[in-house]
Amino acid sequence: MLYAIFSLHSWAASSPLVVLAPGALEGLNYDQAVKRVEPLLKSIQFTWPSAATIDGVPLSSAPVKSFARAATVAKFAAVSNVIELELRPFLPADPEERTAKVWDLYAKAYDRAVLYCTGYREMVATVSFYAGQLAAELKRPLQVLDAGSGTGNFPYLLSWEHPDWFFTLTDFSKGSLALAGKKMLSVQNPSSEKRNFLRLYQNLNDTHVGEAEVGTQDVIILNNVLYNFPSDKKKSILTALVKRLRAEGLLFLGEPLAEFQSIPTKKLELFLGVAKSAVEHGSPFTEFDGALLIAINRLLVTSSPSFMTFEAQGALGSSVGLKAIAGGVRYYNSIGFWVFQKPR
Ligand SMILES: C[S@@+](CC[C@H](N)C(=O)[O-])C[C@H]1O[C@@H](n2cnc3c(N)ncnc32)[C@H](O)[C@@H]1O
Repeated sequence: MLYAIFSLHSWAASSPLVVLAPGALEGLNYDQAVKRVEPLLKSIQFTWPSAATIDGVPLSSAPVKSFARAATVAKFAAVSNVIELELRPFLPADPEERTAKVWDLYAKAYDRAVLYCTGYREMVATVSFYAGQLAAELKRPLQVLDAGSGTGNFPYLLSWEHPDWFFTLTDFSKGSLALAGKKMLSVQNPSSEKRNFLRLYQNLNDTHVGEAEVGTQDVIILNNVLYNFPSDKKKSILTALVKRLRAEGLLFLGEPLAEFQSIPTKKLELFLGVAKSAVEHGSPFTEFDGALLIAINRLLVTSSPSFMTFEAQGALGSSVGLKAIAGGVRYYNSIGFWVFQKPR
């Protein structure tokens, strides 16, 4: 029988091989998969080889040095290779189905990371600030659409502060939407009969989907989604979304910066920033989560994402008729976050 073998030689002189049978994670739910992989993590004794690299980045480089548990990072990288090998054969060949499936697998670990880290909350605070001003001007609760909402962290966190706003969450990852629904219900007053949210399975590639909802939304959030699409698709997706925005409504666009494709240390800086902050803020983030996040990101990269510079993100907003109100770099220097307004 063939085994998926990942050589840990450069990481761990004392335990050179990790062996996991093909399909070892197949059919397991998340908790079972954690149990299956954790003994592997524990069994690896790390020495600290000076020449070790993760995705081509030397472990002696500055971002890694600043992370107290650098050996854990090496474990992440090693185990993520095993997870990637395990998952790859079970993913659908169709790029769209594949992305949706990857996001299903990602949902829980994603939340254990982003929901707790300050970098993510800063972006939510930016939305709360500008949208709060709009609500004050309009003197009514807002209608907010989170497109590609994933596990719904923007609506979930915004609901605490603005319980009377109505949130529409759309995504094509059923696993993410299911988790988002649970979280939204947990914020709501259980005695309230009226729900303040709606979940919709929608594929952003289907730009006709929102045609019945022209001008219905006060706020649209599109965070960390558009990079999944090739350059020639981004504008049509944004155009379709802008139709759903009312005049003077706000669109928040968060997109990873182009440097991610060209500077490998950027990814590491982001990963370490998120993981460190999440753990510091009480997240039950595990080593398995870390390994899974790295593995999943590699699997996503194969489905032709395209990243934009900060300026190109601003120009994209203008090209669909939006006016830039504010913009800045957020989320551990990884995301360009823009606030646009639809003119009258
Ligand atoms: C990085 S996550 C961001 C989630 C959320 N916006 C956030 O900021 O936490 C990207 C999300 O885009 C969704 N997505 C990617 N392509 C999509 C498509 N064609 N239609 C709908 N959703 C899509 C994924 O399922 C995933 O939930």
